[in-house]
Amino acid sequence: MVDLSVNLCGVKLQNPIIPASGTFGFGAEMAEYYDLNVLGSISVKGTTLHPRFGNPTPRIAESEGGLLNAVGLQNPGADHVVAEELPALRRRFRQPVIGNICGFSADEYRECCRRVAPHVDLIELNISCPNVHEGGMAFGTSCEGAAGVVSAVRSVCDKPLIVKLSPNVTDIVSIARACEDAGADGLTLINTLLGMRIDIRRRTPILANTTGGLSGPAVFPVALRMIYQVRRACHLPIVGCGGVQNAEQVIEMMMAGATAVQVGSENLRNPFACKEIVEQLPEIMNELKINKLTDIIGITE
Ligand SMILES: Cc1cc2nc3c(=O)[nH]c(=O)nc-3n(C[C@H](O)[C@H](O)[C@H](O)COP(=O)(O)O)c2cc1C
Repeated sequence: MVDLSVNLCGVKLQNPIIPASGTFGFGAEMAEYYDLNVLGSISVKGTTLHPRFGNPTPRIAESEGGLLNAVGLQNPGADHVVAEELPALRRRFRQPVIGNICGFSADEYRECCRRVAPHVDLIELNISCPNVHEGGMAFGTSCEGAAGVVSAVRSVCDKPLIVKLSPNVTDIVSIARACEDAGADGLTLINTLLGMRIDIRRRTPILANTTGGLSGPAVFPVALRMIYQVRRACHLPIVGCGGVQNAEQVIEMMMAGATAVQVGSENLRNPFACKEIVEQLPEIMNELKINKLTDIIGITE
């Protein structure tokens, strides 16, 4: 019998597989496809303090090896998520739940966390949002911006605080260190990469928002590289995310330094993807002579 369990920031997960935020709704609706209790955890849809309608359509553009999205954080707001969505998920899911929160000012992040944290097991802080007080620059693209929002949220967060980094930076390691110094307990690497496509017949951007975030198989090597670099420079546990499609890539991310692995866009192509990956893991572990998944975390020098 192989051991799939991992410990993420003090929370035991029966396996490292987690549907990534925004690709699995608030979870409960996915219970129509399969028993979600096979998963390690679920990172729910990004939640803001107030409800958001999101960006105008089209919001999704396909691309070779992935997709661009500019959904714009559509969600019903923290109070509704706490009153309706999280209880609905808890009725169907007995494993730890990750609340993914976002905001447009440090105050908004803090208030959102204050409301959501009591109802989840871990908080994932999406710092890719634009800071309205700093000319719309994303919090996560500067050390000061990242540290500012992490310390604001830390002061009200009594759950493990995992900061989800933006890959749209020159030096991911310095941002990771800034988050560690500001009190983060873990890091998720990575969010989407900024991209764009043009409809050459209309001569206009395909996305109404002009630009969007690239995800899917194309970003896997970028995510892997960032996990590897941050693991060597920082002490925090890492949740790998970006382009994962199968159990072999989960092993690869863990060898690079991930403690757990999120699967995002693949859920949109195949709603059973996470369940299938959990089922594939023992076979590939036997083949590679891995008894415990925790033995391979960061094993690649
Ligand atoms: C349609 C869509 C919506 C997303 N919404 C969120 C979100 O609300 N919060 C967040 O932190 N990440 C969000 N993401 C980013 C994913 O969680 C993940 O970081 C990214 O897609 C890379 O992983 P993947 O290549 O496996 O999809 C979203 C991605 C997609 C494709």
